[in-house]
Amino acid sequence: MEFKDLELVFTDHSILCMPGRPSKRFFKNDSVDEVMMDWEAPIMKRHAEVVCRKPNSDVLEIGFGMGIFADFVQELRPRSHTIVECHPQVLGRMEEWVKGKDNVRIIEGEWYEVRDRFEMYDGVFYDAHNDRAFLQMFELKNYVRPGGVFTHWNGEKGQTNIPFEADYEVIYVEPAECEYFKGNEYNLPIVNF
Ligand SMILES: C[S@@+](CC[C@H](N)C(=O)[O-])C[C@H]1O[C@@H](n2cnc3c(N)ncnc32)[C@H](O)[C@@H]1O
Repeated sequence: MEFKDLELVFTDHSILCMPGRPSKRFFKNDSVDEVMMDWEAPIMKRHAEVVCRKPNSDVLEIGFGMGIFADFVQELRPRSHTIVECHPQVLGRMEEWVKGKDNVRIIEGEWYEVRDRFEMYDGVFYDAHNDRAFLQMFELKNYVRPGGVFTHWNGEKGQTNIPFEADYEVIYVEPAECEYFKGNEYNLPIVNF
């Protein structure tokens, strides 16, 4: 089973899923997988500022989630904002979100399967759940313009093992109780092209 086949649960502050239990409507805490939580908002704000650091940027976002990053990007008025998303429930919610946003283009599908539809961007943000895709990031030079920037969600305590030279900006965070992030320091990677 792939991530996009799992049933997601949307709460006021998070998206949760239950690996291997896609049809179960109620869940116990110990079986819940957190997909996204809104305590990450300050992190998403900074990622958005990084990808929009140039005026009139063309931005590529991989993984819409709760749309927190996407909202921050829209506030910064990029020239174009392409969003790749594979999960049908998330795509359903995006239909409402995208209304009236002329600069948004949505590409439906697993990002590594639809990447031939990507163009060149000034800023790329990766926040999806797929190791296979992540390992293919070495192709980034095909999608990031010279002078552009790539950044990605980083759940590690320090630097990640991406095959790029990155600078790290430390952000103080106050995570809600969750499985996927402990501590108060988030290391935001910035890969300059
Ligand atoms: C952590 S959430 C993104 C959170 C988002 N940055 C925000 O601010 O709300 C990850 C998203 O990536 C999507 N996703 C996971 N794997 C994907 C893939 N291979 N291709 C495209 N989207 C994917 C999930 O459905 C989910 O919506």
